[in-house]
Amino acid sequence: MKIYAGSDHGGFLLKQTLIRRLVELGHKVVDLGTNSEKSCDYPDFAHAVAREILADPGTMGILTCGSGIGISIAANRHAGIRAALCHNSLEATLARQHNDANVLVMGGRLVGEALAVDILEKFFSASFDGGRHQDRIEKIEIPLKGR
Ligand code: RB5
Repeated sequence: MKIYAGSDHGGFLLKQTLIRRLVELGHKVVDLGTNSEKSCDYPDFAHAVAREILADPGTMGILTCGSGIGISIAANRHAGIRAALCHNSLEATLARQHNDANVLVMGGRLVGEALAVDILEKFFSASFDGGRHQDRIEKIEIPLKGR
């Protein structure tokens, strides 16, 4: 799986941890920054990851900021992006099974490292259930298409 990664300063350290684990698991990771704990703006990285995923079908993403909130709001402004802010492993599994989430989001200041890695592993090992959930995720896009 090719995975685009992004964070602001508040999520930088967690992003690095998650990237290391993804590489260990055999994924190809493209790190779009940020590259330090120097203060920066989370929307820049949310938009960069969202644009790359939409331009590169079949890919997914991870995003982190301090809380995970701002960067998930920004990513979800893109039609076709389903960014799921997860605080536990069950949410990560359900985000894939029911919502076909294509971006995992976590808060670097809120989730401990061991839990974050478990959330990551659950997210990328689960798959979309389809069926009734397919119709529902298609309805998500209606406001963004202006209908
Ligand atoms: C940055 O201080 C912080 O506001 C940001 O990382 C994030 O938590 C916003 O939602």
